[in-house]
Amino acid sequence: MNILVINGPNLARLDIRDSSVYGDLNYGELKSLIESAAMQHGLSADVRQSDDEATIIGWLHEAADLNLPVIINPAAFTHYSFAIRDAAELVKSPLIEVHLSNPMAREEFRHTSVISGVAHGTIAGFGPNSYVLAIIALKNLIG
Ligand code: DQA
Repeated sequence: MNILVINGPNLARLDIRDSSVYGDLNYGELKSLIESAAMQHGLSADVRQSDDEATIIGWLHEAADLNLPVIINPAAFTHYSFAIRDAAELVKSPLIEVHLSNPMAREEFRHTSVISGVAHGTIAGFGPNSYVLAIIALKNLIG
């Protein structure tokens, strides 16, 4: 089964972001990790990244139309994009929110997620393993 993995702004530049917060993998390595973890669980992950809100909304519409399960790291959009929240709400297959870092242990503006309320669940704070844990959770949900 296909799953869609959506990564939001600045995640393609993990190579220059703070590795003490986001871990040591660059985006290409993170993408490979997600693809191989999905494969190990009998899933095929279509891993995408965009810095653009409209593009991410379009991908969520696609997931809604095709009934695709979704793992999404909305990055900074997590904290304020009501448009991404409304699009995520359209996805009827399970949708899991992930974060590399634990936003609740960081600056106060990161303590709010406008996405969590429409996600099946949230996995945060485990670095790249957050995605691996989300794949396991998704596999359990979709069988
Ligand atoms: C993030 C956390 C967000 O607060 C931040 O804006 C990001 C990445 C994470 O994966 O830890 O860009 O979503």
